[in-house]
Amino acid sequence: MGQIISIMNQKGGVGKTTTAINVCACLARAGMKVLLVDLDPQCNATSGLNQKAVSAHPLVADVSWTEAVVSTKIPNFLLLPGCRSYRQVSKLHDGSAVPSERLQEMLTGILNSFDYVLLDLPPAVSPLSETAVKMASLVLIPIQCEFFAMDGVVKMTSMIPADKWLSCGILMTMADVTLELTKEVEAEIREHFGDIVYRTFIPRDVSIAEASGYGVPVIEYAPRSRSARAYIELTMEILENEQE
Ligand SMILES: Nc1ncnc2c1ncn2[C@@H]1O[C@H](COP(=O)(O)OP(=O)(O)O)[C@@H](O)[C@H]1O
Ligand SMILES: [Mg+2]
Repeated sequence: MGQIISIMNQKGGVGKTTTAINVCACLARAGMKVLLVDLDPQCNATSGLNQKAVSAHPLVADVSWTEAVVSTKIPNFLLLPGCRSYRQVSKLHDGSAVPSERLQEMLTGILNSFDYVLLDLPPAVSPLSETAVKMASLVLIPIQCEFFAMDGVVKMTSMIPADKWLSCGILMTMADVTLELTKEVEAEIREHFGDIVYRTFIPRDVSIAEASGYGVPVIEYAPRSRSARAYIELTMEILENEQE
């Protein structure tokens, strides 16, 4: 039975999609069977893997996930592409329980076929994200290492039930280690969230933007880059935590 990792933060541009793509790639390279589900109408995970958004998403239309899933260039790494259409976007956001119930149903069907299913969520708190939290064995929250990094995160984490708190992992992203500010922000994040903050942080690295331009994960595009190494380390940390 596979495990669900939900990647969320109500803020955009904090590195959710980049993290989703690269953790999937690392897990797949480690021999795991992985599915990335793009749940964001912006479909950045889909385009970041050089795939096309679909017009009928299994969450809102009458197609099964098996019909919708596509392969990526990495063996064992499959993608359920996102969907852009406004009707479907609004369905995913209008607060109705339908998409979240569908998500639950769909994931239950999918889980038998994969070791890991990663959910790349839109920057919003919605019934969909609540379902994603409920079903996840790990809720991975990327936080950009900058001023006001904590703004909104505390509010978002308040939607996470207390018993789920230990299943959360906070990941510091886009860290510029040459700045004094980064150290201050890191200290603040570690003080507030304690043990659930990963040892590994993801440095700011231009290779990430370049890789997404080519539609490949940075661990494929520039495997020796600092960010690729960091994503490999993060994945090892995730796997180690699981064994504890
Ligand atoms: N560690 C990093 N270093 C440099 N650029 C990054 C890094 N992580 C993400 N980015 C870039 O920042 C932008 C936002 O990242 P993304 O993963 O799409 O965030 P989100 O999914 O939270 O909106 C993208 O253009 C991405 O290429
Ligand atoms: Mg995104």
